[in-house]
Amino acid sequence: MNVRCLLNHAKLLLPPLLMIISVTAHAQSTYIPIESRNNALVLQAEKGKAPRIIYFGRKLVNAAEYGKVAGLYRQGDDYSGVLNAAYTSSGTHNLVEPAVRVTHSDGNTSLDLQFVSSATQKLDDQVTLTSVLLRDPVYAFEATLFYKVYASEDVVEQWTVLSHQEKKAVTLHKFASANLYLKGEGFWLKQFHGDWAKEMQPEESQITHGIKVLDTKLGTRSHLYQPPFFIVSLGGPAQENEGKVLYGSVEWSGNFRVDLELDPLNNLRVIAGMNDFASEYSLKAGERFTTPAFLYTFSGHGTGEASRNLQRWARKYRVIDGNGSRFTLLNNWESTFFDFNEQKLAQLLKDTKQLGVDLFLLDDGWFGNQYPRNNDRAGLGDWQENKQKLPNGISSLVKEAEANGVKFGIWLEPEMVNPKSDLYLKHPGWVIKQPGRAEHLYRNQLVLDLSHPQVQDFVFNTVDGMFTRNPGLAYIKWDCNAVIYNAYSAHLEKQSHLYIEYVRGLYKVLERIRAKYPAVPMMLCSGGGGRVDYAALKYFTEFWPSDNTDPLERIFIQWEYSYFYPAITSVNHVTDWGKQPLKFKIDVAMMGKLGFDVDVSKLSPADLAFARQAVQTYSTIKDIVWHGDQYRLTSPWKSDFASVMYGTADKSSAVLFAYLVSNRYGAASKEPVVLKGLDAAKKYRVQEINLYGTTRSAIGPDAVYSGDFLMSAGINPVVNAGRGSVVLKIEEVR
Ligand code: GLA
Repeated sequence: MNVRCLLNHAKLLLPPLLMIISVTAHAQSTYIPIESRNNALVLQAEKGKAPRIIYFGRKLVNAAEYGKVAGLYRQGDDYSGVLNAAYTSSGTHNLVEPAVRVTHSDGNTSLDLQFVSSATQKLDDQVTLTSVLLRDPVYAFEATLFYKVYASEDVVEQWTVLSHQEKKAVTLHKFASANLYLKGEGFWLKQFHGDWAKEMQPEESQITHGIKVLDTKLGTRSHLYQPPFFIVSLGGPAQENEGKVLYGSVEWSGNFRVDLELDPLNNLRVIAGMNDFASEYSLKAGERFTTPAFLYTFSGHGTGEASRNLQRWARKYRVIDGNGSRFTLLNNWESTFFDFNEQKLAQLLKDTKQLGVDLFLLDDGWFGNQYPRNNDRAGLGDWQENKQKLPNGISSLVKEAEANGVKFGIWLEPEMVNPKSDLYLKHPGWVIKQPGRAEHLYRNQLVLDLSHPQVQDFVFNTVDGMFTRNPGLAYIKWDCNAVIYNAYSAHLEKQSHLYIEYVRGLYKVLERIRAKYPAVPMMLCSGGGGRVDYAALKYFTEFWPSDNTDPLERIFIQWEYSYFYPAITSVNHVTDWGKQPLKFKIDVAMMGKLGFDVDVSKLSPADLAFARQAVQTYSTIKDIVWHGDQYRLTSPWKSDFASVMYGTADKSSAVLFAYLVSNRYGAASKEPVVLKGLDAAKKYRVQEINLYGTTRSAIGPDAVYSGDFLMSAGINPVVNAGRGSVVLKIEEVR
């Protein structure tokens, strides 16, 4: 292929108006370095061969030296020559888990994707997009690998586009987003599992030979069992401040799959993307199959740096208004459940004002007439105000909220339906269920078939209708409780497309909502943290980590989420869960977006006064928590207490949260906490804030230390049975 031909190809592949900085196609071996600020993934490409990963790790100063790395290894012969393929084909000489597997239109199952060309474009100062075109020499089948590199955060998003020009459709059996290859002295996997109210339970183990699969087959949500993110550490279990770690996450809100294969040469193959389970995809000639992205970041300095990079990336590039502001709120779910009416809500709007938070969030139970939503057995799908509970409708509540000087938000679960609903009776064909088999319900509900354009319109119109009828509506909590049982679509011709088309349909709806309402804050909820991933978070401002709001549990749950997500996205409500005092609950909820879900009228006068004051205190530190760098200092898993710190990028202010997590006799912060992220040369005043009532602090009133001292000797927050939670503000003294 000559250079003009290549340039034309690059133009076809990549968006126009972008600067092409390199295009490559050599007869001999060539290197394609995909580099960020600190790291490099380097492919070796040769015409007529599959491109291979020859380097993954710290960037070298001299790119010409990447080619010398492979020669340093004496690990033996892999026989196939493609153990380290950048995208492993199936059916020819590969002997291990493939990234892509197809049946051609003539029934043949062989594929050999060979290098054709690559191109790199600068999308802006910090972001580049490299594409690598692969083609089969026998069948008119192509794959293009895309690597989008966010240089300053060391984050890469990798995805693949598959297409062909065969006579008839090609069946895709496996269609990974990415295929990585790591060398190291052993690999450890930190993975997570969970259930309702038990999200983010970590497990860590050394990866042994064979394949470890992380996946979900739940259809709408992953996290009843397993979220789509993980950590691989090299040479030992992951450490916070040192060691090599790879964070990975599939950007897909449905069935995902990650294969971690320790190969015969002791290297780690990582293959990640949508789950191929029950999902053979029939791809027509000329059609492009775009996989979701696989997101990864690599750090040579432990999980702390990797998290800060990923959190910064999320705030800057992914989450809506990631560097902006959020509403504090009062939610009514735990205080009323389904039992409320206009009078009760009028009082709750007053309570919202009294508490000093920004918004009142009306939860489940406000809709359904023929089948009123008075419990979770009926009404889902009928998004009309229940006339008995709300005779004057949502619009009067929005007005009443305005009159009270607060904003109004509402709960929706628009992807779902109760069999006891008008919607179900009117549109049985919109529901995912097997014809001829008994329905199997989850929380008494079924999932709507979002692969169906009419269902997409219905869901869009449900949300759009809420906003057009109530222009003052300021917030949506979008819930998704059920999983997909009995996967069958009355709309789709090919049933094996359902799991994929469901999620694509969901994204189409969310795209439309965001095109019309780009800025309105929306909480991503899924019976707790069932659907927290970086594809869904393109459309949301925040997520609900768990229905479990017991603050002791939350210390652990929030700790684990923080490996991947910034505090500004974590919705933390103070509720009646847990036996700890109100101060403990509020302190824990402050490590993210503070909200309340309590019956304000039942708070003692002292508690109410404290809560009001805490909301004010929160407004003085929220910018540090939301936009600052996070440092996990003392692990609740390893100590009697936990401590977490957030500091501003200019190192002028920080907040330290510390909590007792043990009931054992004498449990306390016996040693000081060594702080991080300050300026050694600056002086800082350390002051305890958010004290309850007239409680006096155990920290001296005028405690001034150098940054050097705080980052070498540290400070003791004096956590003990009498001081279960402590918040310290650390501010530069000028
Ligand atoms: C789910 C959510 C809760 C609440 C209920 C309402 O369980 O996680 O926060 O909104 O639904 O039914």
